[in-house]
Amino acid sequence: MTGDIKEVLLSKAALEKRVQELGSQISKDFKGKEILMIGILRGAVIFMGDLARAIEIPVALDFMAVSSYGAASTSSGVVRILKDLDESVEGKHILIVEDIIDSGLTLQYLVENLKSRNPSSIRICTLLNKPSRRKTAVTVDYNGFDIPDEFVVGYGLDYAEKYRNLPFIGILKPEAYSE
Ligand code: IMP
Ligand code: MG
Repeated sequence: MTGDIKEVLLSKAALEKRVQELGSQISKDFKGKEILMIGILRGAVIFMGDLARAIEIPVALDFMAVSSYGAASTSSGVVRILKDLDESVEGKHILIVEDIIDSGLTLQYLVENLKSRNPSSIRICTLLNKPSRRKTAVTVDYNGFDIPDEFVVGYGLDYAEKYRNLPFIGILKPEAYSE
């Protein structure tokens, strides 16, 4: 599996350090409150597990799964909810947890959708951000790392459902796509 990786972009140690920093910041910012962390399946699962344990105030966890209509490799902005939340978000402080923000179209839809359900507040936390690819303005409150426009895998991120369990973020070799 690691043979398919061209370059390690973010090591296990770098990820651990940054996740701790994000957890501390979030704990401070939400002091005295409770957070409903909403993980976007499936890519955010591993990051969310580590982030939740780095947060020192009470959190509840819920999940959504979405997919965009249209071409597989690029987001169309038309989003379909595959799995909705189990609990109501009304009056709650929501923290959306994403693996990566690329065009931002998925997230824009999610924020609009969640806003209509009357939470107390909505904040966004992403592990990775590709600012050069943004097609819409989304305000990211907590950002792990800005990365270049390369296709990355590991620490929850996949290519065709593979590589999610790598403990680091790596850039995939072009050969690994064409198989
Ligand atoms: P967008 O921001 O709506 O364009 O889509 C973001 C989603 O695309 C993420 O949640 C990932 O599932 C997927 N994605 C975007 N870039 C990458 C990447 O480099 N590796 C793995 N998945 C990616
Ligand atoms: Mg994916």
